Amino acid sequence: MATSIVLPKIMQIGGGALQLLPDTLAALQCKSPCIISDTTMLKLGLIERVKTLLLTHCSHVGVFSDVMPEPNDQSLLAAVELVGSEKFDCLIALGGGSAIDSAKAIALLASHKGIMRDYKVPRIINEHSIPIIAIPTTAGTGSEATKVTVITDAESDEKMLCMGPGLMPAAAIIDYELTLSLPPRVAADTGLDALTHAIEAYVSKKANLFSDQQAIAAMKLIAPNLQLACQQADNLEAKEAMMLGSNLAGIAFSNASVALVHGMSRPLGVHFHVPHGMSNAMLLPLITEYSISHAPKRYAECALHMGLISNIDDLNAAHQALLKELRHLNRILKVPSLTDFGVDQKRYLSLLQTMAEQALASGSPANNPRIPNVAEMVELYTAAWS
Ligand SMILES: [Fe+2]
Repeated sequence: MATSIVLPKIMQIGGGALQLLPDTLAALQCKSPCIISDTTMLKLGLIERVKTLLLTHCSHVGVFSDVMPEPNDQSLLAAVELVGSEKFDCLIALGGGSAIDSAKAIALLASHKGIMRDYKVPRIINEHSIPIIAIPTTAGTGSEATKVTVITDAESDEKMLCMGPGLMPAAAIIDYELTLSLPPRVAADTGLDALTHAIEAYVSKKANLFSDQQAIAAMKLIAPNLQLACQQADNLEAKEAMMLGSNLAGIAFSNASVALVHGMSRPLGVHFHVPHGMSNAMLLPLITEYSISHAPKRYAECALHMGLISNIDDLNAAHQALLKELRHLNRILKVPSLTDFGVDQKRYLSLLQTMAEQALASGSPANNPRIPNVAEMVELYTAAWS
Protein backbone atom coordinates (compact mmCIF):
# COMPACT_ATOMS: atom_id res chain seq x y z
CA MET A 1 0.00 0.00 0.00
CA ALA A 2 1.32 3.46 -0.89
CA THR A 3 1.82 6.09 1.80
CA SER A 4 1.67 9.87 1.34
CA ILE A 5 4.58 11.51 3.13
CA VAL A 6 4.54 15.21 3.95
CA LEU A 7 7.64 17.07 5.14
CA PRO A 8 8.85 20.68 5.38
CA LYS A 9 10.49 21.91 2.13
CA ILE A 10 13.61 23.01 3.97
CA MET A 11 15.14 21.80 7.24
CA GLN A 12 18.27 23.53 8.57
CA ILE A 13 19.69 21.15 11.16
CA GLY A 14 22.55 21.51 13.63
CA GLY A 15 24.24 23.85 16.10
CA GLY A 16 24.14 27.44 14.85
CA ALA A 17 21.42 26.71 12.26
CA LEU A 18 19.55 29.80 13.49
CA GLN A 19 22.02 31.92 11.52
CA LEU A 20 20.51 30.44 8.34
CA LEU A 21 17.16 32.11 9.02
CA PRO A 22 17.68 34.99 6.54
CA ASP A 23 18.74 32.51 3.82
CA THR A 24 15.71 30.38 4.57
CA LEU A 25 13.42 33.37 4.31
CA ALA A 26 15.00 34.31 0.97
CA ALA A 27 14.62 30.73 -0.31
CA LEU A 28 10.90 30.94 0.43
CA GLN A 29 10.76 34.36 -1.28
CA CYS A 30 9.32 35.98 1.83
CA LYS A 31 10.05 39.55 2.79
CA SER A 32 7.66 40.47 5.55
CA PRO A 33 7.69 38.03 8.49
CA CYS A 34 5.80 38.13 11.76
CA ILE A 35 7.33 36.35 14.76
CA ILE A 36 4.83 34.25 16.75
CA SER A 37 6.21 33.54 20.22
CA ASP A 38 5.63 33.82 23.94
CA THR A 39 6.68 35.89 26.93
CA THR A 40 9.38 33.40 27.99
CA MET A 41 11.16 33.90 24.66
CA LEU A 42 10.71 37.64 25.10
CA LYS A 43 12.35 37.56 28.55
CA LEU A 44 15.19 35.32 27.32
CA GLY A 45 15.95 37.91 24.62
CA LEU A 46 15.44 35.33 21.88
CA ILE A 47 12.72 37.30 20.11
CA GLU A 48 15.03 40.30 19.88
CA ARG A 49 17.84 38.09 18.56
CA VAL A 50 15.61 36.61 15.86
CA LYS A 51 14.18 40.01 14.98
CA THR A 52 17.68 41.46 14.55
CA LEU A 53 18.60 38.56 12.30
CA LEU A 54 15.46 39.04 10.20
CA LEU A 55 16.11 42.77 9.82
CA THR A 56 19.28 41.92 7.85
CA HIS A 57 16.98 40.61 5.10
CA CYS A 58 13.76 42.58 5.43
CA SER A 59 12.59 45.98 6.56
CA HIS A 60 9.30 45.05 8.18
CA VAL A 61 9.21 42.52 11.02
CA GLY A 62 6.15 41.99 13.24
CA VAL A 63 6.08 40.46 16.70
CA PHE A 64 3.25 38.68 18.50
CA SER A 65 4.56 37.45 21.85
CA ASP A 66 1.31 36.46 23.58
CA VAL A 67 1.12 32.76 22.71
CA MET A 68 -0.45 30.91 25.64
CA PRO A 69 0.65 27.47 26.84
CA GLU A 70 -1.69 24.76 25.48
CA PRO A 71 -3.30 27.46 23.26
CA ASN A 72 -7.04 27.98 22.86
CA ASP A 73 -8.81 29.46 19.85
CA GLN A 74 -9.46 32.81 21.55
CA SER A 75 -5.74 33.34 22.19
CA LEU A 76 -5.11 33.37 18.42
CA LEU A 77 -7.52 36.15 17.48
CA ALA A 78 -5.26 39.17 18.10
CA ALA A 79 -2.47 37.54 16.07
CA VAL A 80 -4.83 36.70 13.19
CA GLU A 81 -5.94 40.34 13.16
CA LEU A 82 -2.32 41.59 13.26
CA VAL A 83 -1.17 39.30 10.42
CA GLY A 84 -4.16 40.26 8.26
CA SER A 85 -4.01 44.01 8.84
CA GLU A 86 -0.25 44.35 8.30
CA LYS A 87 -0.17 41.88 5.39
CA PHE A 88 2.74 39.77 6.67
CA ASP A 89 3.75 37.18 4.10
CA CYS A 90 5.10 34.51 6.47
CA LEU A 91 5.24 33.54 10.14
CA ILE A 92 8.30 32.70 12.22
CA ALA A 93 7.13 30.30 14.95
CA LEU A 94 9.62 30.61 17.79
CA GLY A 95 9.25 28.47 20.92
CA GLY A 96 7.93 25.11 22.04
CA GLY A 97 4.96 23.20 20.68
CA SER A 98 2.47 25.86 21.80
CA ALA A 99 4.14 28.58 19.70
CA ILE A 100 4.42 26.36 16.63
CA ASP A 101 0.90 24.97 17.00
CA SER A 102 -0.44 28.52 17.44
CA ALA A 103 1.43 29.74 14.35
CA LYS A 104 -0.10 26.92 12.26
CA ALA A 105 -3.58 27.94 13.34
CA ILE A 106 -2.88 31.67 12.92
CA ALA A 107 -1.57 31.14 9.36
CA LEU A 108 -4.64 29.07 8.53
CA LEU A 109 -7.17 31.56 9.92
CA ALA A 110 -5.35 34.60 8.49
CA SER A 111 -5.30 32.98 5.05
CA HIS A 112 -8.70 31.28 4.93
CA LYS A 113 -10.89 32.85 7.67
CA GLY A 114 -13.37 30.88 9.76
CA ILE A 115 -12.87 29.49 13.26
CA MET A 116 -10.72 26.57 14.42
CA ARG A 117 -13.75 24.39 15.09
CA ASP A 118 -14.40 24.44 11.30
CA TYR A 119 -11.08 22.71 10.75
CA LYS A 120 -10.98 19.93 13.35
CA VAL A 121 -10.71 16.27 12.39
CA PRO A 122 -12.08 14.44 10.48
CA ARG A 123 -11.75 17.42 8.08
CA ILE A 124 -8.38 17.33 6.32
CA ILE A 125 -6.67 20.69 5.89
CA ASN A 126 -5.34 20.77 2.34
CA GLU A 127 -5.46 24.55 1.90
CA HIS A 128 -2.12 26.32 1.53
CA SER A 129 -1.67 29.17 3.99
CA ILE A 130 1.10 31.74 4.30
CA PRO A 131 4.35 29.84 4.97
CA ILE A 132 5.70 29.15 8.43
CA ILE A 133 9.34 28.86 9.42
CA ALA A 134 9.30 26.87 12.65
CA ILE A 135 12.14 27.32 15.13
CA PRO A 136 11.67 24.90 18.06
CA THR A 137 13.30 25.80 21.35
CA THR A 138 12.41 22.51 23.06
CA ALA A 139 13.40 18.99 22.07
CA GLY A 140 10.00 17.38 22.25
CA THR A 141 6.89 18.11 20.29
CA GLY A 142 8.40 17.74 16.82
CA SER A 143 5.69 20.19 15.74
CA GLU A 144 8.17 21.81 13.31
CA ALA A 145 7.81 18.73 11.10
CA THR A 146 4.20 17.68 11.67
CA LYS A 147 0.97 18.37 9.78
CA VAL A 148 -0.89 18.57 13.07
CA THR A 149 -1.96 21.28 15.49
CA VAL A 150 -3.90 20.96 18.73
CA ILE A 151 -6.02 23.98 19.74
CA THR A 152 -8.44 24.03 22.66
CA ASP A 153 -11.97 25.33 22.12
CA ALA A 154 -12.22 28.01 24.82
CA GLU A 155 -15.97 27.51 25.16
CA SER A 156 -16.20 23.72 25.45
CA ASP A 157 -12.62 23.08 26.67
CA GLU A 158 -12.25 20.41 23.99
CA LYS A 159 -8.70 19.91 22.72
CA MET A 160 -9.34 19.97 19.00
CA LEU A 161 -7.02 17.96 16.82
CA CYS A 162 -6.54 19.55 13.40
CA MET A 163 -4.64 17.80 10.68
CA GLY A 164 -3.62 17.99 7.04
CA PRO A 165 -0.76 18.78 4.65
CA GLY A 166 -1.73 22.47 4.73
CA LEU A 167 -0.48 22.67 8.33
CA MET A 168 3.07 21.52 7.55
CA PRO A 169 5.61 24.32 8.12
CA ALA A 170 7.41 25.34 4.91
CA ALA A 171 10.74 25.31 6.74
CA ALA A 172 12.19 24.29 10.09
CA ILE A 173 15.33 25.47 11.81
CA ILE A 174 16.42 22.75 14.20
CA ASP A 175 19.22 24.23 16.28
CA TYR A 176 19.92 22.33 19.50
CA GLU A 177 21.82 25.32 20.90
CA LEU A 178 18.42 26.92 21.48
CA THR A 179 17.61 24.16 23.99
CA LEU A 180 20.70 24.62 26.18
CA SER A 181 18.92 26.80 28.72
CA LEU A 182 15.79 24.65 29.02
CA PRO A 183 14.77 24.13 32.66
CA PRO A 184 15.13 20.42 33.62
CA ARG A 185 11.36 19.98 34.13
CA VAL A 186 10.60 21.26 30.61
CA ALA A 187 13.46 19.18 29.14
CA ALA A 188 12.04 16.06 30.84
CA ASP A 189 8.41 16.62 29.86
CA THR A 190 9.16 17.49 26.25
CA GLY A 191 11.72 14.68 25.94
CA LEU A 192 9.23 12.15 27.28
CA ASP A 193 6.70 13.48 24.76
CA ALA A 194 9.22 12.79 21.99
CA LEU A 195 9.83 9.25 23.27
CA THR A 196 6.06 8.70 23.34
CA HIS A 197 5.80 9.93 19.73
CA ALA A 198 8.46 7.46 18.61
CA ILE A 199 6.93 4.48 20.42
CA GLU A 200 3.35 5.30 19.44
CA ALA A 201 4.30 5.88 15.79
CA TYR A 202 6.08 2.51 15.78
CA VAL A 203 3.16 0.53 17.21
CA SER A 204 0.44 2.55 15.44
CA LYS A 205 -1.94 0.73 13.11
CA LYS A 206 -0.99 3.41 10.55
CA ALA A 207 2.76 2.69 10.81
CA ASN A 208 4.49 2.22 7.47
CA LEU A 209 8.00 1.44 6.27
CA PHE A 210 8.92 5.13 6.03
CA SER A 211 7.57 6.13 9.45
CA ASP A 212 9.18 3.03 10.98
CA GLN A 213 12.65 4.23 9.93
CA GLN A 214 12.10 7.65 11.53
CA ALA A 215 10.65 6.09 14.68
CA ILE A 216 13.54 3.62 15.02
CA ALA A 217 16.15 6.35 14.53
CA ALA A 218 14.29 8.53 17.04
CA MET A 219 14.24 5.77 19.68
CA LYS A 220 17.96 5.16 19.15
CA LEU A 221 18.72 8.85 19.67
CA ILE A 222 16.28 9.57 22.49
CA ALA A 223 16.53 6.52 24.77
CA PRO A 224 20.22 6.79 25.70
CA ASN A 225 20.23 10.59 25.83
CA LEU A 226 17.00 11.65 27.51
CA GLN A 227 18.23 11.37 31.06
CA LEU A 228 21.64 12.93 30.22
CA ALA A 229 20.05 15.88 28.42
CA CYS A 230 17.79 16.58 31.40
CA GLN A 231 20.45 16.23 34.09
CA GLN A 232 23.50 17.69 32.34
CA ALA A 233 22.66 21.09 30.90
CA ASP A 234 26.08 21.34 29.23
CA ASN A 235 26.04 17.90 27.60
CA LEU A 236 26.01 19.09 23.99
CA GLU A 237 26.02 15.62 22.45
CA ALA A 238 22.96 14.59 24.44
CA LYS A 239 21.18 17.88 23.61
CA GLU A 240 21.93 17.47 19.90
CA ALA A 241 20.73 13.85 19.93
CA MET A 242 17.51 14.84 21.69
CA MET A 243 16.81 17.67 19.23
CA LEU A 244 17.24 15.44 16.20
CA GLY A 245 15.45 12.55 17.89
CA SER A 246 12.49 14.80 18.66
CA ASN A 247 12.38 15.99 15.05
CA LEU A 248 12.48 12.43 13.67
CA ALA A 249 9.84 11.30 16.16
CA GLY A 250 7.67 14.19 14.94
CA ILE A 251 8.12 13.09 11.33
CA ALA A 252 7.31 9.51 12.36
CA PHE A 253 4.04 10.27 14.11
CA SER A 254 2.97 12.89 11.60
CA ASN A 255 3.13 10.15 8.96
CA ALA A 256 1.82 7.29 11.11
CA SER A 257 -0.26 8.97 13.82
CA VAL A 258 -0.12 8.76 17.60
CA ALA A 259 -2.31 6.33 19.51
CA LEU A 260 -3.93 5.62 22.88
CA VAL A 261 -1.42 7.42 25.13
CA HIS A 262 -1.99 10.72 23.33
CA GLY A 263 -5.72 10.09 23.07
CA MET A 264 -6.08 9.62 26.84
CA SER A 265 -3.49 12.25 27.70
CA ARG A 266 -5.23 15.23 26.09
CA PRO A 267 -8.23 15.21 28.51
CA LEU A 268 -5.79 15.29 31.45
CA GLY A 269 -4.41 18.50 29.97
CA VAL A 270 -7.87 19.96 29.40
CA HIS A 271 -9.36 19.24 32.84
CA PHE A 272 -6.32 19.33 35.12
CA HIS A 273 -3.77 21.37 33.15
CA VAL A 274 -1.14 18.65 33.30
CA PRO A 275 1.57 19.66 30.76
CA HIS A 276 1.29 17.60 27.57
CA GLY A 277 4.56 15.63 27.83
CA MET A 278 4.01 14.98 31.54
CA SER A 279 0.52 13.57 31.07
CA ASN A 280 1.84 11.31 28.31
CA ALA A 281 4.57 10.09 30.64
CA MET A 282 2.05 9.43 33.44
CA LEU A 283 0.16 7.10 31.09
CA LEU A 284 2.94 5.59 28.95
CA PRO A 285 3.94 2.59 31.16
CA LEU A 286 0.31 1.71 31.92
CA ILE A 287 -0.91 1.95 28.31
CA THR A 288 2.14 0.08 27.05
CA GLU A 289 1.43 -2.76 29.47
CA TYR A 290 -2.23 -2.79 28.36
CA SER A 291 -1.33 -2.84 24.65
CA ILE A 292 1.66 -5.20 24.50
CA SER A 293 -0.33 -8.39 23.92
CA HIS A 294 -1.76 -7.01 20.66
CA ALA A 295 1.61 -6.10 19.08
CA PRO A 296 4.14 -8.24 20.95
CA LYS A 297 6.86 -8.11 18.30
CA ARG A 298 6.58 -4.37 17.76
CA TYR A 299 6.88 -3.59 21.48
CA ALA A 300 9.81 -6.01 21.79
CA GLU A 301 11.48 -4.16 18.91
CA CYS A 302 10.98 -0.89 20.79
CA ALA A 303 13.05 -2.36 23.63
CA LEU A 304 15.67 -3.43 21.10
CA HIS A 305 15.87 -0.03 19.38
CA MET A 306 16.02 1.71 22.74
CA GLY A 307 19.14 -0.33 23.48
CA LEU A 308 17.60 -2.19 26.42
CA ILE A 309 18.20 -5.70 25.06
CA SER A 310 20.43 -7.19 22.36
CA ASN A 311 17.85 -9.41 20.61
CA ILE A 312 14.15 -10.21 20.67
CA ASP A 313 14.41 -14.00 20.97
CA ASP A 314 12.53 -13.80 24.26
CA LEU A 315 9.55 -11.49 23.70
CA ASN A 316 8.47 -11.61 27.32
CA ALA A 317 11.92 -10.54 28.53
CA ALA A 318 11.89 -7.71 25.96
CA HIS A 319 8.49 -6.51 27.20
CA GLN A 320 9.61 -6.58 30.82
CA ALA A 321 12.75 -4.60 29.91
CA LEU A 322 10.63 -1.99 28.11
CA LEU A 323 8.16 -1.58 30.97
CA LYS A 324 10.97 -1.43 33.52
CA GLU A 325 12.73 1.32 31.53
CA LEU A 326 9.57 3.41 31.09
CA ARG A 327 8.88 3.26 34.83
CA HIS A 328 12.54 3.98 35.59
CA LEU A 329 12.54 7.06 33.34
CA ASN A 330 9.43 8.42 35.05
CA ARG A 331 11.05 7.90 38.44
CA ILE A 332 14.44 9.35 37.55
CA LEU A 333 12.90 12.31 35.70
CA LYS A 334 10.56 12.93 38.63
CA VAL A 335 7.29 12.63 36.73
CA PRO A 336 4.70 13.16 39.47
CA SER A 337 1.70 10.92 40.07
CA LEU A 338 -1.70 12.50 39.45
CA THR A 339 -2.05 12.98 43.22
CA ASP A 340 1.36 14.59 43.55
CA PHE A 341 0.55 16.90 40.65
CA GLY A 342 -2.44 18.11 42.66
CA VAL A 343 -5.29 16.50 40.77
CA ASP A 344 -8.37 16.40 42.97
CA GLN A 345 -9.46 12.75 43.32
CA LYS A 346 -13.17 13.48 43.60
CA ARG A 347 -13.19 15.63 40.49
CA TYR A 348 -11.00 13.11 38.65
CA LEU A 349 -13.36 10.25 39.44
CA SER A 350 -16.38 12.33 38.43
CA LEU A 351 -14.82 13.00 35.02
CA LEU A 352 -13.80 9.44 34.12
CA GLN A 353 -16.63 8.91 31.65
CA THR A 354 -16.25 12.35 30.07
CA MET A 355 -12.49 11.94 29.65
CA ALA A 356 -12.93 8.49 28.11
CA GLU A 357 -15.51 9.83 25.65
CA GLN A 358 -13.26 12.77 24.74
CA ALA A 359 -10.31 10.43 24.24
CA LEU A 360 -12.35 8.23 21.94
CA ALA A 361 -13.65 11.23 19.97
CA SER A 362 -10.10 12.39 19.20
CA GLY A 363 -9.64 9.35 16.96
CA SER A 364 -6.16 8.54 18.33
CA PRO A 365 -7.18 5.41 20.32
CA ALA A 366 -8.32 3.81 17.05
CA ASN A 367 -4.65 3.70 15.94
CA ASN A 368 -3.59 1.71 19.00
CA PRO A 369 -2.67 -1.97 18.66
CA ARG A 370 -5.34 -2.76 21.27
CA ILE A 371 -8.40 -0.56 20.90
CA PRO A 372 -10.38 -0.03 24.09
CA ASN A 373 -14.03 0.93 24.31
CA VAL A 374 -15.18 3.72 26.62
CA ALA A 375 -15.69 1.37 29.59
CA GLU A 376 -12.15 0.03 29.22
CA MET A 377 -10.75 3.54 29.04
CA VAL A 378 -12.61 4.37 32.25
CA GLU A 379 -10.82 1.37 33.80
CA LEU A 380 -7.48 2.59 32.46
CA TYR A 381 -8.04 6.09 33.86
CA THR A 382 -8.98 4.48 37.17
CA ALA A 383 -5.81 2.41 37.13
CA ALA A 384 -3.77 5.51 36.31
CA TRP A 385 -4.84 7.02 39.63
CA SER A 386 -3.39 4.25 41.79
FE1 LIG B 1 2.83 14.75 21.87
